[in-house]
Amino acid sequence: MNSNLPQEIDWRLRVFDSLSFPTLIMDRNGTVVSVNQKLLEKYHIVKPQVVGKSCREIFHSLFDDPDLPCNRDTCPLDKTIAEGVGHSVLKQIQRQDGSMYWEDRVFSPILDDAGNVIYVVESIRDVTRTKALENIIHDIREFLNRVVQSSTSAIVAADRSGRILLMNQAAEELFGYDFKNAGSISVTALYPQGVAREIMKKLRDDDFGGRGKFPVTQVNILTAWGEAIPVEMTGAIIYEGDNTEAATMGIYNDIRERLAVRKKLQDAQSQLDQSEKMASLGRLAAGVAHEINNPLTGILMYGNLMKEKMEADHPFLSSLTCILEDAERCRDIVKNLLAYSRQSSMSRDHFSMNSLVEESLRLIRDQSLFMNITIRKELSDMWMLVKADRNKMSQVIINLVMNAIAAMNRSGILTLKTYRNDDRKTACLEVTDTGCGIPEENRSRIFDPFFTTKELGKGTGLGLSTAYGIVKDNNGDIVIKETGPGGTTFLMELPLDMDSMECMESIG
Ligand SMILES: Nc1ncnc2c1ncn2[C@@H]1O[C@H](COP(=O)(O)OP(=O)(O)O)[C@@H](O)[C@H]1O
Ligand SMILES: [Mg+2]
Repeated sequence: MNSNLPQEIDWRLRVFDSLSFPTLIMDRNGTVVSVNQKLLEKYHIVKPQVVGKSCREIFHSLFDDPDLPCNRDTCPLDKTIAEGVGHSVLKQIQRQDGSMYWEDRVFSPILDDAGNVIYVVESIRDVTRTKALENIIHDIREFLNRVVQSSTSAIVAADRSGRILLMNQAAEELFGYDFKNAGSISVTALYPQGVAREIMKKLRDDDFGGRGKFPVTQVNILTAWGEAIPVEMTGAIIYEGDNTEAATMGIYNDIRERLAVRKKLQDAQSQLDQSEKMASLGRLAAGVAHEINNPLTGILMYGNLMKEKMEADHPFLSSLTCILEDAERCRDIVKNLLAYSRQSSMSRDHFSMNSLVEESLRLIRDQSLFMNITIRKELSDMWMLVKADRNKMSQVIINLVMNAIAAMNRSGILTLKTYRNDDRKTACLEVTDTGCGIPEENRSRIFDPFFTTKELGKGTGLGLSTAYGIVKDNNGDIVIKETGPGGTTFLMELPLDMDSMECMESIG
């Protein structure tokens, strides 16, 4: 063994000398024991200038700045000796020509057989190129980060276990998380239950947008406070190599506004359809009413003449009375049809919404109808003058009240509420019952003439259609505001009489 030693030392020295970066060996005190050829070349010195001297002394003499490149606070020599493991220090140094370069000084311990550090090897590597590449990568990363952060679409990326790695500002706003302070959030928390798993399944499905892709799809996301928001999202799996899934990412756009606009358009369209239907039904009703009105007037006139001339015990008297009653019923129907088709004459009166409500309730002939009904009046004391046909408007309210009572099967709570809508400049009346509600399939038909769910002889199906015609004729509106198994609310609006408002203001 011992005979090999000189050869081995010789071999090691060759390696030491042929190292392509400057290297020196020091003892535990930092005294230089040996240096390699590269170091001598780099600093233009010869061995006797350095061997036996302290490393700090050498380096200080090589640089103008006494702090470069040796700084006692950052020098890892003592640490390497104390811990017996390698350490390194990275420094940016200015060359004599003013240019800068990066130096990585790596300290490795040389141990004796007992494991004690006897020498330390220090190699000096110029890592300027690596550092420059690192800076480029850093700049690219910064740039990409800015692109992601400034996107108006919400962007979220997660690792394979679903832990969120990235959330841009738009995502923080959409989902309501403060990502940096939220700790670890899982993607599953961003969706209603089961949705995240469904998306992952589709991402891996070749037939759904291709493997690793989730094409534009409308889904609901879940905010930090539990609100479901409709969004349009796309997603992708980020692969490392060909097959290894490294991460997933999703891009989300809030579509609440777009959906609201679409809904408004649909509502406007269905309102248009409704008013077109009403108009054509109105024309038909008006034609029929006019045709029937003339013969009916004749029937009633001659019938009444006959009845007047009949003796009280005439055998046909009761039959004639029946004929006349039915003819009168026909006349009422015709009158309602004319009101619906807005062919009857109108008067314009000034009155307050509250007085109209009170008066209409008094006008209901059969007050026993209210016996088991609790009437709640919530009449606003705000100024609410309107200009409309008072008698006809009264008829509208009576129709609404009678329908409400019928829907409650004559027992329940009837609420009449008035208020002013300043935005729309209308006086409003809501008639609410605790009745059976209007089934979905009937909602678009209840204003049609002759639509009734009441048994034969009980309802004509003209109440709401007449009300509709009257309200429209007075430039108002009537709609079902709410209906369900707990009851129904009808809302009727009439435009406020702004002239009298100005007049009141000038008096006030
Ligand atoms: N408040 C209400 N609650 C439940 N259903 C109602 C209410 N008002 C009206 N309806 C429904 O609308 C239909 C039409 O009403 P209307 O035109 O007044 O005719 P009628 O009362 O003669 O049936 C009623 O038959 C009923 O089905
Ligand atoms: Mg009715």
